[in-house]
Amino acid sequence: MRLTVIGLGYLGATHAVAMAKLGHQVIGIEQDQSKLESLRQGKIPFHEPGLDSALTEVLATGRLTFQSEHDSQSSSAEIHFICVGTPQKESGEADTSYVVSATKQLAKHLKPESVVAGKSTIPVGTAAKLKHQMSEIAGFPVHLAWNPEFLREGTALEDSLKPDRIVVGSWDQYSVEKLKEAYQPILETGTPFLSLDVETAELVKVAANAFLATKISFINAMAEIAEAAGADAVALAEAIGHDERIGKKFLRSGIGFGGGCLPKDIRGFIARAEELGVGSSLDFLKDVDQINLRRRSRVVELAKQELGTLANKKVLVLGISFKPDSDDLRDSPSLEIARRLSELGAEVVIHDPVALAALKEPGKLKPEQNLEVAAKDADLVILGTEWKEYRDLEPAKLKVKSKVIIDGRNVLDVKKWQLAGWKVIALGRNIQN
Ligand SMILES: NC(=O)c1ccc[n+]([C@@H]2O[C@H](COP(=O)([O-])OP(=O)(O)OC[C@H]3O[C@@H](n4cnc5c(N)ncnc54)[C@H](O)[C@@H]3O)[C@@H](O)[C@H]2O)c1
Repeated sequence: MRLTVIGLGYLGATHAVAMAKLGHQVIGIEQDQSKLESLRQGKIPFHEPGLDSALTEVLATGRLTFQSEHDSQSSSAEIHFICVGTPQKESGEADTSYVVSATKQLAKHLKPESVVAGKSTIPVGTAAKLKHQMSEIAGFPVHLAWNPEFLREGTALEDSLKPDRIVVGSWDQYSVEKLKEAYQPILETGTPFLSLDVETAELVKVAANAFLATKISFINAMAEIAEAAGADAVALAEAIGHDERIGKKFLRSGIGFGGGCLPKDIRGFIARAEELGVGSSLDFLKDVDQINLRRRSRVVELAKQELGTLANKKVLVLGISFKPDSDDLRDSPSLEIARRLSELGAEVVIHDPVALAALKEPGKLKPEQNLEVAAKDADLVILGTEWKEYRDLEPAKLKVKSKVIIDGRNVLDVKKWQLAGWKVIALGRNIQN
């Protein structure tokens, strides 16, 4: 099929490559010239395992091309996927202005038989407004469907090619059939396809993210209780996780969630529920958000307890991306902790296997790519992102001034570190050092 993918960030670049890998002829449309240039040269403008080589592979087939604007060729695509950003406004609401302007631009070029499939995460009720606006501009009833995306950064390509489910919300069967055709190679493998009403499809993504955020904040609330009661939240999670109704996933206490999706999606969801007059239904998500943010403050408190004054103290923060296998710094818990410690007067050295290059404005933070150099003379080490490099780290590699580490992700082998002479502090645990 001939497809376009509009907006080539984390979602769109991955989707464009995945669709070309499935055999479709894909035109990627992106307004940021530097991203466009990088993609044309076969370089993904962010870190995502396996995506660079997949891009090189599909570029060589000629099935994927890039451009900055619509033209007669892109207009004739059978499906246009909308993948532009929906960041958070200051008020907490989702900013849908990029989706509005991308769909308006598209409507001027649209063919009546083309389907527009939104993948961006939008507040429930947005698609109906977009359909109305686009149909007015196009002069015919536009086939609009909503097809939320569930990929996770770090495993984005794999998630796109082997999703748990494909969800499509639509007003017409024609759009559903077109999307089924596009995803046919995936559906043949038995992937569930859920054809829903549009409002439910819009809700699926934010509801899923609200649930995941709640699970993380639940265990972090337990960590707060465990810290006060002298219990161990890691052992607690293991014990309750054996119950298959609860499960073990997303139950590791730590410095909490961040990134470009979970935090803004729950805040946008809260704002939308308030607009709908059912704000109290999501009051609990405000607590989920607060519990999550309190974990960052807890690490700052622990650092102060350990170091006394932070002035003239050197702190090494291991990992600045919001999660491992990604260089995404949006709302990264470890980066916020690093910044707050720096504001309090500490000299903060940051290390990360890939994300330092993505930090355009380090301010007073000191990026250092060489781990041994970064660790030199540190008074405190904080593990902020659970990269494999850090989980497997040999303590002897860090020649610090003071052997104290805060494990912000509960991933270290505590005994190993203690045997190497380290004091280990971890969130939600009462470790005897
Ligand atoms: N990042 C993820 O893991 C993920 C997963 C699922 C869903 N989502 C959702 O997908 C959407 C995109 O997220 P993202 O992380 O890829 O954002 P992003 O900011 O990385 O990418 C958005 C891209 O769209 C481009 N753009 C904006 N307006 C445009 C226009 N009119 N024409 C062409 N290009 C335009 C921007 O330049 C940018 O490159 C959001 O709604 C997000 O919530 C993201």
